[in-house]
Amino acid sequence: MDDQTFAQPATALRDARSVVVLTGAGVSAESGIPTFRDTMEGLWASFDPQQLATPEAFARDPELVTRWYDHRRLGCAACEPNAGHLALARMEREICALGGSFTLLTQNVDGLHTRAGSTDPVELHGSVMTWRCSQTNRPVTPPPPPEPWPDFPPISPAGAPARPDVVWFGEALPETALERSFAALESCDLLLSVGTSSVVYPAAGFIELDAANGARTIEVNPQDTPMSSNVTWALRGKSAQILPRLIAEAFRAQ
Ligand code: OAD
Repeated sequence: MDDQTFAQPATALRDARSVVVLTGAGVSAESGIPTFRDTMEGLWASFDPQQLATPEAFARDPELVTRWYDHRRLGCAACEPNAGHLALARMEREICALGGSFTLLTQNVDGLHTRAGSTDPVELHGSVMTWRCSQTNRPVTPPPPPEPWPDFPPISPAGAPARPDVVWFGEALPETALERSFAALESCDLLLSVGTSSVVYPAAGFIELDAANGARTIEVNPQDTPMSSNVTWALRGKSAQILPRLIAEAFRAQ
């Protein structure tokens, strides 16, 4: 991809007053975390994530579901943020230093944006690093990585199975996360959608919503998505390569 490809989106980024970034599993791919729709590996190869990530699966087999989520918790803790996460943390600093507003919305549950230095990302699907009682919703602290839970399912002080604080298929997104998302999208003049297959709503609808509101949109993904034909600029490639280039181009004279 030549420098010319980056010129217009970089100018739009530098000039934007209100930036929203939506990320998906692809942004963590280069940290070694498989994307949601990749086939699972090793012991989990025969399981389908869409079948495990449901309240019904947890009710039916809490041991299996909590083992899988603890495997993911420890896997995420063992990974490091990559150049894409770091570039988004820098983007936030640059936009805020210019007096603009910046909101990071993520569908990821791995906590890597925070570890890369992003301030208070909106975790639309929760976090695999925090757990709670399935009955009282009170937080239950897991052992520090790399320690697994001693028992599966873990039992909360209230005597009920503990569960990861993530959103499962069929569950509502956290209300405050949705409120923050729509407030940011309302005033947004530039939306970046990074590493998401854009098939899971409501996040997938954010591009349509913003395009309808007159905002410009940038998609960063090695492949086409159902939203690609709606975006202003589609930057094809891996986020750990594209985002540092975009930011270097946008803020090089600052
Ligand atoms: P997916 O696994 O559906 O999609 C990952 C996207 O990342 C794909 O479009 C890939 O082309 C792209 N991709 C792969 N490698 C990349 C890279 N190095 N750089 C940039 N992009 C890359 O993951 P999500 O879109 O995040 O929800 O999935 C959304 C939600 O679907 C998940 O949060 C999960 C699932 O249902 C719940 O569990 C509720």
